[in-house]
Amino acid sequence: MAQTSQAKAQTMRAVALDKFGGPEALKIQNIPIPEIEAQEVLIRVEAAGVGAWDPYEREGRFVEITGVEPTFPYVLGTDGAGTIAAVGKDVNRFKEGDRVYAAALANPKGGFYAQYAAVKADNASLIPGDLSIEQAAVLPTDGATALTGLEKVLKLKSGESLMVFGASGGIGHLAIQLAKRLGAKVFAIASGDDGVQLARKLGADKAVDGRGDDVLEAAKEFAPNGIDAALVTAGGADTDRALSAIRQGGRIAYPHGVMPEPTAHDGVEIEAYDGENSPALIARLNELIDSGPFEVQVDRTFPLEEASKAHEALDEHHLGKIALRIG
Ligand SMILES: NC(=O)c1ccc[n+]([C@@H]2O[C@H](COP(=O)([O-])OP(=O)(O)OC[C@H]3O[C@@H](n4cnc5c(N)ncnc54)[C@H](OP(=O)(O)O)[C@@H]3O)[C@@H](O)[C@H]2O)c1
Repeated sequence: MAQTSQAKAQTMRAVALDKFGGPEALKIQNIPIPEIEAQEVLIRVEAAGVGAWDPYEREGRFVEITGVEPTFPYVLGTDGAGTIAAVGKDVNRFKEGDRVYAAALANPKGGFYAQYAAVKADNASLIPGDLSIEQAAVLPTDGATALTGLEKVLKLKSGESLMVFGASGGIGHLAIQLAKRLGAKVFAIASGDDGVQLARKLGADKAVDGRGDDVLEAAKEFAPNGIDAALVTAGGADTDRALSAIRQGGRIAYPHGVMPEPTAHDGVEIEAYDGENSPALIARLNELIDSGPFEVQVDRTFPLEEASKAHEALDEHHLGKIALRIG
């Protein structure tokens, strides 16, 4: 089915930047609904994820790295969920009305802080489990990044011990649940009492507060011969101290963007990586989610109009993710 003429003729509400800048640069505007090509789908967006990396994109730092000339108005939002409004002529996997979630980083057609988003059909997937639309919206990038780290980079095996540093954050709280499904024993280093409680609820075998507890002593008790592997989502002195609990021959993975970059002791492998956004990886993520009750923690949801407040909230302590609701 081709894009509907109705969608073509209309404009949409979006939070769009006229120039890169601070949270105040996020303004509601009316802009054209993006047009789709043969291999794309148009999603009527109901909720968008607010990524930990969105402020960097807002400030123009992605563009500095990629060298790609930005076009304004520039719509942020890597992650989102909603219903299929139209499909390109080569797309067979979806039909109008399907409930989907998708990720597209720095999408030249515009991101998910908008009523509509055009993405490659390969980047979209039916929503797994019984996730709400907000939960699905915040899931794709962090879910894919957690799974890439565990299965592709660390090659985590059943029975191994795993440290998750930043375990109550976006990637971390998903990584706990995925690692348990892969058969690992999880040592979660979360933030605050509420973070520790969340990590326990999500199945961590041991959870400690990385901002207060004696992490190394707890790690020694958990794995006297050292922990096999670590997935790290926050850097700094606390992180590097905790990583001394990884055993000789162990492995550490962290996604690009974690700053300061974690360091490993001699005899421990360390690798920075990017989350994979392929249909195969997303299918695997969906399969693991579908295999039992799965929690995606949405700490706060803001209306689209309050995107700037949502960005400010990223700097405050929170559990899991922050979402935007698009009315
Ligand atoms: N390259 C890629 O493909 C890719 C993809 C996704 C994300 N990323 C990057 O990966 C990083 C993590 O992403 P995310 O979405 O998981 O971010 P996030 O939600 O901010 O998670 C980081 C977590 O670490 C916690 N933390 C910080 N210091 C801690 C400590 N000493 N002890 C215990 N917990 C601590 C934070 O808690 P509090 O702040 O509440 O204390 C927060 O919950 C970001 O830099 C992001 O840009 C990269």
